[in-house]
Amino acid sequence: MKTITALLLLSLSLFAVDGQKVYEENCKACHLGMVSKADFMAQIKTIKAPPMVEVSNRLKNTLTVADDDEEVQRFVVISFIKEYLKRPSWNYYLCDDAAFNRFGVMPAQTHLSDAELQAVAEWVFDEFEDKEFK
Ligand code: HEC
Repeated sequence: MKTITALLLLSLSLFAVDGQKVYEENCKACHLGMVSKADFMAQIKTIKAPPMVEVSNRLKNTLTVADDDEEVQRFVVISFIKEYLKRPSWNYYLCDDAAFNRFGVMPAQTHLSDAELQAVAEWVFDEFEDKEFK
């Protein structure tokens, strides 16, 4: 039994997709991760998207659920991120209007697999818990 559990865990870790790696390879060129407002503004001329810390907090503050169930809210935010990555749109973006007007709509990330989308969406949610863009 123990061997089976160990094997199962090993195979899970072999196949698990690393969300941070997906971010570094596919998102970082446009989205800085954790950055202060001052550092962000200092680089604004060459920046192509809002920083991930801001994106993460904004989605959490905007997509709330009625009974404050944290697991449901995490599911809702991660699902939104996954869908937005496949179909970014002027019709339902949630970043602020100033950022949207400055940067335009994000290109669809359709080259990513479902597992990569899931992993990076979870990373965007979890990485910036209790971190603020200030
Ligand atoms: C070519 C630049 C570029 C790349 C690469 C990119 N993004 Fe974006 N992203 C943007 C821009 C610009 C916006 C702001 C406009 C918008 O919301 O579409 C944005 C917005 C977002 C949003 C907020 C959506 C909303 O509700 O407005 C999320 C979440 C996001 N990006 C995640 C990612 C992730 C995860 C990746 C990597 C898999 C990624 N982005 C790659 C440019 C990029």
